Amino acid sequence: MPSATFQVQRGGAGGGRLETYTTEVAEGMVVLDAVLQIQAEQAPDLAVRWNCKAGRCGSCSAEINGMPKLMCMTRLSDLPPGKPILLQPMKAFPLIKDLVTDVSWNFRVKKMIKKFKPRPPDAADGTWRMAQEDVDRVQEFRKCIECFLCQDVCHVLREHHLFEEFIGPRFFVHVASLEMHPLDVEDRREELKKADGIGYCNITKCCTQVCPEDIHITDNAIIPLKERVVDKFYDPLKRLFGRWRGK
Ligand code: SF4
Ligand code: F3S
Ligand code: FES
Repeated sequence: MPSATFQVQRGGAGGGRLETYTTEVAEGMVVLDAVLQIQAEQAPDLAVRWNCKAGRCGSCSAEINGMPKLMCMTRLSDLPPGKPILLQPMKAFPLIKDLVTDVSWNFRVKKMIKKFKPRPPDAADGTWRMAQEDVDRVQEFRKCIECFLCQDVCHVLREHHLFEEFIGPRFFVHVASLEMHPLDVEDRREELKKADGIGYCNITKCCTQVCPEDIHITDNAIIPLKERVVDKFYDPLKRLFGRWRGK
């Protein structure tokens, strides 16, 4: 049976080291299969987070040969043959141990975003009517599995560590799903400009490239949100009109 060699980052926040493991591999195996095999046969204390093994839970995010990816959706046959495979934890978040990082900052950010606020029912039967195209627009954003790979790759968090000023691409997708929802009447533009730091995004599109759900994060969520912020705060006609009205 063929084998593959892995260089796995081991250790905690105090300092990591690369450990080399060689394990047997078979056709169809994904990186997570090999990691669990190494854990079962050679390194029972190897820390790895996973749950569904089907690309649905977003738990197994890591960096494979330096690229943010889901371990359960990355086939060994798609990696360069005959070369060691480098496995590291996501770099943007605090390391807990080995391949496991603390992503709890993301859940705190989500709680700060204004919730869904529907307009009153507008149909005679006490329900709402929505145009199908308006429903379709937000469906894409609801595919997010909260793997946080987009957060990991975005330089604003990864290199500049602006965790206090910038909510990151995952949460621009979340805000877009609310702002563009046909029933929602909340206004989140002031937060987008100030607390959420949308101005820090300089449209590098790295987030879109790593999204395992193929969400067009930059084109369909971030750029339209930036346009809404510009409309509210920088549109000269609106500002002039607002001044006449004493606003
Ligand atoms: Fe993951 Fe894509 Fe959601 Fe970002 S937007 S958390 S990359 S699924
Ligand atoms: Fe970051 Fe994506 Fe913008 S990677 S800079 S949020 S386009
Ligand atoms: Fe659930 Fe990989 S284990 S996405």
